[in-house]
Amino acid sequence: MFTEPHEDMPRIVQLLKSRGGYTILDLGSGTGRHIVYLARNGFSVFGLDNSPEGIQATRQWLMEENLDADLRLQNMTEKLPYEDSFFDAVVSVQVIHHADMATIRRIVQEIGRVLKLGGFLFFTVPKLKNQEGKFEQIEPNTFIPLDGREKGLPHHYFTPEELREVFGTWDVADIHLDKVNHYCLSAFKQ
Ligand SMILES: C[S@@+](CC[C@H](N)C(=O)[O-])C[C@H]1O[C@@H](n2cnc3c(N)ncnc32)[C@H](O)[C@@H]1O
Repeated sequence: MFTEPHEDMPRIVQLLKSRGGYTILDLGSGTGRHIVYLARNGFSVFGLDNSPEGIQATRQWLMEENLDADLRLQNMTEKLPYEDSFFDAVVSVQVIHHADMATIRRIVQEIGRVLKLGGFLFFTVPKLKNQEGKFEQIEPNTFIPLDGREKGLPHHYFTPEELREVFGTWDVADIHLDKVNHYCLSAFKQ
């Protein structure tokens, strides 16, 4: 279980505080490391994940710290349960690549729908690597493991060029690799 926030999170909190927007969605919030970190920093935090165990662990952690957040148990591939232009920011760390490309494009569109104009998006996705174990390749750079812990869960591996293409209508401020070899994308909705 992750306990420390992603290395870029302090920078993101500073950026958001300087811009004055405090309503934030953590898409694929896992066991809650960013939910708790953002709530501690005074944000109005919303989280969505399709893992009941993840949502439960996050609730427990929030309770222990006497913090609050709106948590939803839902698949990110369905319409997000928020109104248009509701969020100042969306973060999503190591989540969006768990789909095929057509679905990823739909998720990015949904993120755009729930973000305010000028709203900020930060997400991380893994860089292409050699596949281990048995897998099926369903399209370029999308693999489905046929055994192991992540059996059946699609993994898409991005190139920076592909990220720029998927975010063609966004203002992409930065793409860089983090310590665990994931591309980190910062972009604004325009
Ligand atoms: C590697 S974990 C990252 C969790 C969290 N973002 C973090 O950084 O600690 C990936 C998360 O994505 C969630 N996830 C995967 N596919 C999903 C889907 N289709 N809908 C919602 N959540 C999903 C998993 O349940 C898991 O919590």
